[in-house]
This record gives sequence, structure tokens and C-alpha cells, in this order.
Amino acid sequence: MKNSKVKVGLMGLGTVGTGVVRIVQGHQEDLQKQTGLSIEIAKVLVQNVEKTRSLKLAEGIVTTDAADLFDNPEIDVIVEVIGGIQPAKEYILKALDNGKHIVTANKDLMALHGAEILSKAQERGCDVFYEASVAGGIPILRALVEGFSSDRITKMMGIVNGTTNYIMTKMSQEGADYTEVLKEAQALGYAESDPTADVEGHDAARKMAILGTLGFHVDMSLEDVDCKGISKVSAEDIAYAKKLGYEIKLLGIAQRDDGLIEVSVQPTLVHHTHPLASVNGVFNAVYVHGEAVGETMFYGPGAGELPTATAVVSDLVTVVKNMKLGVNGRSSVAPYREKRLKSDEQIVSKYFLRLIVDDKRGVLAQITRILAEHDVSLEQVLQQPYNGGTQSEIILITHHASRKNLFAVREQFAELESIFEVKSLYRVEGGEEK
Ligand code: NDP
Ligand code: HSE
Repeated sequence: MKNSKVKVGLMGLGTVGTGVVRIVQGHQEDLQKQTGLSIEIAKVLVQNVEKTRSLKLAEGIVTTDAADLFDNPEIDVIVEVIGGIQPAKEYILKALDNGKHIVTANKDLMALHGAEILSKAQERGCDVFYEASVAGGIPILRALVEGFSSDRITKMMGIVNGTTNYIMTKMSQEGADYTEVLKEAQALGYAESDPTADVEGHDAARKMAILGTLGFHVDMSLEDVDCKGISKVSAEDIAYAKKLGYEIKLLGIAQRDDGLIEVSVQPTLVHHTHPLASVNGVFNAVYVHGEAVGETMFYGPGAGELPTATAVVSDLVTVVKNMKLGVNGRSSVAPYREKRLKSDEQIVSKYFLRLIVDDKRGVLAQITRILAEHDVSLEQVLQQPYNGGTQSEIILITHHASRKNLFAVREQFAELESIFEVKSLYRVEGGEEK
């Protein structure tokens, strides 16, 4: 920090990087009023200098040599928006070694190597902020760390992947075909470069690992997140869910009961009266329940150039304020609670089951017998003719039951001769008190 100017090295000038430059340049006066210092993008790292860009930068700013940023004594803060694990991790660690503060939007890196990066930052007295890594423009990480610091969070449920929410919304509202909508989401720039990360839930799982760590103060790793995507959700599942009063969403669920934690990402039936059911399109939302505050919900754009860049630049403002106060590296709190994960017996919720059965006497009795043997009771039952009336489709919503019992029920159903197929099994949230 020289001459009342903070110099920033921006790594990446794609969707988010471009937004960062636009906000830093366009909001300069406001940023200066808030921090008392002017913020200058001094160097920008790209891969291809020949690429046509939608904004003009001063001569000599753009480089393909990362050392021009992390080894540059003029630069105070590195903003990393190149994405991926390497070389982003290497550049960030080198920058920290050189005493530079870090702002990143990289959920993959923070979910997998966050502990290592944060520990190096603490050692070097540097800030590392990563607000944009979860739910883009929604300031959810700051809300968890600061807003809920006086409370104990018991549950977080998030629609934290815009691509899959866009797909589920289009399938539910327009009866659109899964493959067609995925192509649309890719063309609109919502999806990851490999959309498997979106549709199989991996992107959401990384974000839930970050939310779990900050919300529950435990060292949550990606392997702790039980993850299932939306690629097997059918139009029929969505239609039946709707008939019973539910929407299907790819939901991240992090829950703490009596000190035991579960974190998952899975297609979930959300009752239409729950606020998450009406979060549509590419929007994200995070529902947070605290012991003292009760229910809260945060809603907004989870991706896109300017929404994501607002989160990045807000982190930058915090770094600059800390620099002025001389308190960099002092705000992060390492996880201080022991991580105790629930077993399948301790994970309890309502479930939706869709079965194809022979349309003959006694089948329903066999089904209810197996459910009763596993202590599972029913909230709703729907039966429809299937396959020209030769078979029936039975749709069940259970009351609260353990995941262990539900899986045992599914196994026994699969062994019954009269049950042709267990088509789907989903978790259910909302619609009834526990
Ligand atoms: P883009 O692919 O649009 O941009 C990546 C930028 O990084 C490009 O400018 C590219 O250079 C540069 N780059 C990539 N690899 C290298 C490398 N090895 N060396 C130097 N430069 C490199 O990505 P996004 O802007 O979409 O995403 C950036 C980060 O933000 C990711 O971590 C992403 O997960 C996260 N994020 C993105 C959101 C979004 O809405 N897009 C939302 C929330 C988080 P060049 O231009 O020359 O190709
Ligand atoms: N692919 C991600 C999504 C981008 O669809 O939400 C934002 O992290």
C-alpha cells in the first residue's frame, strides 16, 4: 500500500474477472469513500493475450506470467478468478509466501484445499476471503461468519447450483426435456466447463462442504458430503411430486442434531409451502435455521459476471479496511468443534418412493407389511394404472423414518416378485412438522 493506493493483481479475465474490473472502475468513488484508499488493478493474468476482450485495459497491464503478480512487490492483494485446482493453488500459496492477501471465487480449491490455504494465510498474517465461491452474489459466507456468530446453526438447506435449478424449473414448469435444457444452460454460460460437475451434484457438494465448515465450525471435507445429482430425475417423478404438492430441487442439506452432523446433496421433494420451493430458474437460495433466530433465508443470483464480481469486490473492500486497521489475518476462526457425523440410522427424514407393481390382489398389503416391519409409516399414497393397465404405479410419501430403514425397505421391495421396479427414492423436506 503506497500513496494511499492499494494495488491488486487480478488472475483471470473471464466472466468474473471482467466483472471485477468493471466494478472496481465503475464504483471507484464509492469504494474510496468506504475504504479511504483508492483501489487499482495493477496487473492482469490471462492465458491468451490475443483474445478479444470486452473491456480496454491500460498498456502493459496484461501478462501471461503469474510471477508478474505473485512476485511483484508493488502488489498488495491477489484476486484469483482463473478457477480449477492447479495452477491456482500454486499461485495463491506463492502469493501468501510473499505476504499478499487473497480474494478468490474458487469453490473447488477452497472445498479441497481450504484448510491448507487458510493455515498458510494465518502463518503469514494474510487475509483469505472467498465469498463468491458459494451462491455467487448472495453474501452468505459473511452472514454465517458474522451475522450468525451469536447463534448456533442447526440446519442449512441450499439451492446452490444455478444450472441444475434452471433445469429442474424448466422441466417442472414447461415439461421441457432434460438434455435440451442442459444444452440451453450451457449456452447461457451457467454450467461449468464440464457440466457433469453441475448435474451430478459435485459443484453443489463443494459449496456445501464450505457452508458446513463455516456454519458448524467443523473441518468438513468433501468426502463427508453424500452426493447424488439430478441426471436420473424423470419427468414422471416431477409430475407425481407436483400432484402431491411438492417441487423437486437439487438441495444441499446440512443438519446438526445433538452435536451430530449430516451433509448431503440430493434431488429432494420440497413442499410447495416451503420458501425454497419457489426459488426458480438460475437463482440460488440458502435457508438457515439457528437455535435462537429460527428460520431465515438468503436469495439471489448464484452466478454471472456482475453478481459474482460484487462478492469478490466486497471481499477486496474488507481486505483494504483490514489493511488500514492493521488487522489482516486476524479475522478467520479455525474450526473448533469436533466433527461427529451421523450414521444412516441417525439420518431421519420423510421419503418419496415410486414403485411399478403387478396389478393384482395383495400387493399393497405386502408393501405395507414391509414398511411396518421397518417402522416406516405412510403420509400419502397414490396409485395409477401403468403399462396399459397391466401394472400399477404406486407413489408413497412416508412419515419421518431413518435412512437405514428406508434403504432396507428398498432392498426388500426389490426382492418381492410382485414389485417389478423401485423407480425412485427421494428425500422429502417440508409440509409437515416432525
Ligand atoms: P472463465 O473461464 O470465464 O475465465 C477464466 C479466466 O482465467 C480467463 O481469463 C483465462 O484466460 C484465465 N486462465 C485460466 N487458466 C489460466 C492459467 N493457467 N493461467 C493464466 N490464466 C488462466 O471463468 P469464470 O470467470 O467463469 O470463473 C472464474 C472462477 O470463479 C472459477 O473458480 C469459478 O468457479 C468461479 N465462479 C464463477 C461464477 C460464474 O458465474 N462464472 C460464479 C461463482 C464462482 P483467457 O481469458 O486468456 O482464456
Ligand atoms: N456452474 C455453477 C452454477 C456456477 O450453475 O451454479 C456458479 O458457481
